[in-house]
Amino acid sequence: MFPERLSAAVEANALAYDHKELAKAAAQISEKYRAERGDGSRLVTKDCETAAYAAVRMPATFAAVSAALEHTLEHTDCEISAAADIGAGTGAAGWAAAELLESIAELHCYEREPKMRETGSRFMQEADIGIKTEWHSFDITKDTPGRSYDLIIISYTLNELSEKDRERAVDMLWEKADKLLLIVEPGTKAGYANILAARERLIKAGADIACPCPGNGKCPLNGDDWCHFTARAQRTKLHKLLKGGDVPYEDEKFSFIAAAKCAVKPCEKRILRHPQISGGFVDLRVCTADGISDIRVTKSSKQFKSARKADCGDSI
Ligand SMILES: C[S@@+](CC[C@H](N)C(=O)[O-])C[C@H]1O[C@@H](n2cnc3c(N)ncnc32)[C@H](O)[C@@H]1O
Repeated sequence: MFPERLSAAVEANALAYDHKELAKAAAQISEKYRAERGDGSRLVTKDCETAAYAAVRMPATFAAVSAALEHTLEHTDCEISAAADIGAGTGAAGWAAAELLESIAELHCYEREPKMRETGSRFMQEADIGIKTEWHSFDITKDTPGRSYDLIIISYTLNELSEKDRERAVDMLWEKADKLLLIVEPGTKAGYANILAARERLIKAGADIACPCPGNGKCPLNGDDWCHFTARAQRTKLHKLLKGGDVPYEDEKFSFIAAAKCAVKPCEKRILRHPQISGGFVDLRVCTADGISDIRVTKSSKQFKSARKADCGDSI
């Protein structure tokens, strides 16, 4: 859950702006992200845009990274004490890691835009993230972190880079990840294509894929289907005011890959679709080491109880 104290800091920050100005900035940001230009352009640079990003996007990207990391931790056995958030924006991924992993003692956030850095670092102080944090001015197309980290997360950032810069970023971050590299992208066809390209690169570099795949085999999805999951974020009053609508939550689609240098135990089956539950059985579409299959878990099966409670993205 998006921490309440962080939500309060995001809201207090947004109150400095006229809500019409913020709503306009939020709409422009959505438009820019929808275009998925991937050309390295600077998308969020002004104070008001940063405040709007934090109010309308940060809860959703926090939810996506939290879900991806939670799934990943089920399949890895590594002690994480130092973490880095690359292309940190206002710090959503860093917050997700700090909330999920009590073992984290320090978090370093790397970000190109000064307004994002200033706001993200202020949120971590005001809302008291509870661990040592450092923010670095950093351009992923030319800089390299000065040290390595147990866990590196890069969320919703690869898709802003050119193909050449994405490849450089993946290679460099893998080198700097001592135990785990988690890449999260929007759950679009383009986001999944970035994840797939990174996956192939990481496997060639010797990575073990910890999650969401059932191992290092070739991804069986092709054509119009792509691997993505959904994370639910509760909507605040401010979010509803800026984006309109009354629905109390939004479902954020995301794709991800977790590559490990520490021990992994990949899943046997990953649920790819929302389970279809009937009285006596649950129908699941799953990804396995042998490909995609549609399975029916019946009442007599040992897995029935867990299948009934399972959701898309879970392993079984
Ligand atoms: C969509 S935001 C994602 C922010 C955050 N990771 C999240 O999940 O909410 C993409 C971030 O990547 C940053 N970014 C884009 N290109 C970058 C680059 N070349 N070097 C460093 N950061 C970059 C942007 O400034 C922005 O903060």
